[in-house]
Amino acid sequence: MSNSLRITPLGPHIGAEISGLTLAEPLSGQLFELIQQALLTHQVLFFREQPITPLSQRALAHRFGDLHIHPVYPHAPEAEEIIVLDTHHDNPPDNDNWHTDVTFIETPPALAILAAKQLPPVGGDTLWASGIAAFEGLSPQLQQLLAGLEAEHDFTKSFPAHRHNASPAEYRRWQEAAARHPPLRHPVVRTHPLSGRQALFVNEGFTTRLPNLPTQESEALLAFLFRHIARPEYQVRWRWRENDIAIWDNRVTQHYANADYLPARRIMHRATVLGDKPFWRAS
Ligand code: SIN
Repeated sequence: MSNSLRITPLGPHIGAEISGLTLAEPLSGQLFELIQQALLTHQVLFFREQPITPLSQRALAHRFGDLHIHPVYPHAPEAEEIIVLDTHHDNPPDNDNWHTDVTFIETPPALAILAAKQLPPVGGDTLWASGIAAFEGLSPQLQQLLAGLEAEHDFTKSFPAHRHNASPAEYRRWQEAAARHPPLRHPVVRTHPLSGRQALFVNEGFTTRLPNLPTQESEALLAFLFRHIARPEYQVRWRWRENDIAIWDNRVTQHYANADYLPARRIMHRATVLGDKPFWRAS
């Protein structure tokens, strides 16, 4: 392994920058293992100066597992697994809320790889929050209550019909996606399948209710949890430069794409690696 390889933590709970490797080239087994271990520790990793084509990004992501094809977002012409998030005045972003990617499926992504292609002159940072730190920040009494609960996740909360009806074809695609993704349930507290650590696993983007509780209790508890996970203590914020790459563990984090840059344009490419069915196991 190169002597110049360096891992610099960006905070006590979440985030590290890694330098001294090239993600566009096939990773050795040793480097791949190092990234896996760093993800378990830091949950989101940042890499500067990593120009990458959609095909190389797909190959990199594929090292980690099978890839998800998004039901409504557009993709790169050469790789349907690479989502293109091209936002500007006429296409404002829809990810300026705290969310974990694609929790509306049975096996939500294990991780995601995001590449910065075109950035606004200023702004457009992304923030990540650690579900592990957020869970550990709760009282033992509340941790115990949450550990037995389930939450409902709904595709249409982040992808409502009115944002996907610009043309009949787009609306048809949305209708098919909504029909294929009815609301489903995941545990409110999730055990990481590799580290065994517990993480809060509700997100404002997709979580609609706690079906084991009466409506008013569900609303009040979710409102508290959404506020709790957004505390700066649990976060890291990344100021992008073009050709930066971020890789995050989507099982135990959520993120917020700051929409402060409009009407300027921002283009990001995301590859999304499928994960396993979330479960909770007592520690
Ligand atoms: C995402 O929400 O997955 C992408 C975040 C970003 O565009 O910064």
